[in-house]
Amino acid sequence: MLALCPLLLLGACSAQTAESQRTTQPADWDAELRLPEAVDEDPDPHVFETTLIAKVVNLELVPGKLTAVWTYNGVLPGPLIRVRQGDRLRVHLKNELPEATTIHWHGIRLPNAMDGVPGDTQPAVEPGGSFDYDFVLPDAGTFWYHPHADSAAQVGYGLYGPLLVDDPSEPAELGDELVLVLSDMLLDPRGSGQQQPADAGGDLETLFGREGDTLLVNGKLNPTLRPRAGRRQRWRLINAAKTRYYQLALQGQSFTRIGGDDGLSAAPQELDRVVLTPGQRADVMLELAMPSASTLPVRWVPYDRGYGSVEYRSEETLFTLQTSALAAESSPARPVVSRELAAVDITQATAQRIELTQSPAGTPFSLGINGVPGAEAQPIQVSVGDTQLWTVHNNVPWAHPFHVHGFFFQVLDVNGVPPPVLEWRDTVDVPVDATVRLAIQFNERPGMWMFHCHILDHADAGMMGMVHLHAH
Ligand code: C2O
Ligand code: CU
Ligand code: CU
Repeated sequence: MLALCPLLLLGACSAQTAESQRTTQPADWDAELRLPEAVDEDPDPHVFETTLIAKVVNLELVPGKLTAVWTYNGVLPGPLIRVRQGDRLRVHLKNELPEATTIHWHGIRLPNAMDGVPGDTQPAVEPGGSFDYDFVLPDAGTFWYHPHADSAAQVGYGLYGPLLVDDPSEPAELGDELVLVLSDMLLDPRGSGQQQPADAGGDLETLFGREGDTLLVNGKLNPTLRPRAGRRQRWRLINAAKTRYYQLALQGQSFTRIGGDDGLSAAPQELDRVVLTPGQRADVMLELAMPSASTLPVRWVPYDRGYGSVEYRSEETLFTLQTSALAAESSPARPVVSRELAAVDITQATAQRIELTQSPAGTPFSLGINGVPGAEAQPIQVSVGDTQLWTVHNNVPWAHPFHVHGFFFQVLDVNGVPPPVLEWRDTVDVPVDATVRLAIQFNERPGMWMFHCHILDHADAGMMGMVHLHAH
């Protein structure tokens, strides 16, 4: 039986005092990166109720220019929803967009009817319409929400927001926290400030995936963070871009990655760079070893996901760290973060072969799974209680971030090599020519569950499929 075991936090957590929880960051250290927060309309402390209005507004993303952005509640990214594990979330979606939409709660293990896939789990919400989402958050972690109708266009135009589910037993010593939503936008090359149409460049661009030229962090172009030197930070990163992979680097600094998509990992990892495919999240600690009153760019470094992803491309600045003039101050002792995770038992697993495919040359362009575009595909039939072992092979000469709705999985290996740490994921990179094996326990919540490439141009071009999970 799969158990999400409680956190094991070894180290400083028992010695936690009110004093150690207080940050000594300058008051406005994160002012430029602060996220708008959703308003809780329900007085019950365990119910978070809010309204999200999807609408188009003009925002000044690039100095002196207005961009029509598709937003939730007029802000980019959409408001931060922050709840505790076990809380109930109720969201009233109102659609003031020119087209139908839904909200999908990426990474949340929720009832099928709340998953936000139009035609499969709910009707699309037409312009002027509304829909009420209502579910319990069973897992702590860094999640996000976005539409699942005309997804490449709607996500690309700005519809995404962060959803944090806190585990109240996590110690504050993990670091001074920042939630960082990474995204990009493709603006008109003539400089009008307007967004390019979602189908700009035709099939060739769809095959590569459309990356924006304007890199945004929490909706801002190269914002500045003004931390105190020496203080440990905890970054909760979300890649909300529809195509762009993020590889983050900071000169002379390393990251301690403590978690991924679905909560903390079994053990921390020391990394010089952090990579997130579209859809993925990462939870990292950063010991800021820069001197006071100094500046360091946080860089986007090209990541090889196939031809055109690294050739003739250079690094870009995502945001800038500018330490305050205050004397450096070290953080309380760093906790060792770990989590007791059991490997999924695959002895009885049903094998499933999943080929990521492209239509043959000389036929109309589409992408697919096992040679069939999503719209024509037959669902994979699974019964509640089944464990499945999926072998996902990439036949297209570009990498694909493979995402499964409603259930976590464990990656067994990539080209035969097991991942460095055990953790729950909902999105995994399938590099060019690679084979990734993953284990999923479909142990509850029957219904139609989608899986797809999270390069949303690819998903919309057909790289998606369905699991029909049957009750007994
Ligand atoms: Cu973020 Cu269907 O996914
Ligand atoms: Cu999802
Ligand atoms: Cu893809």
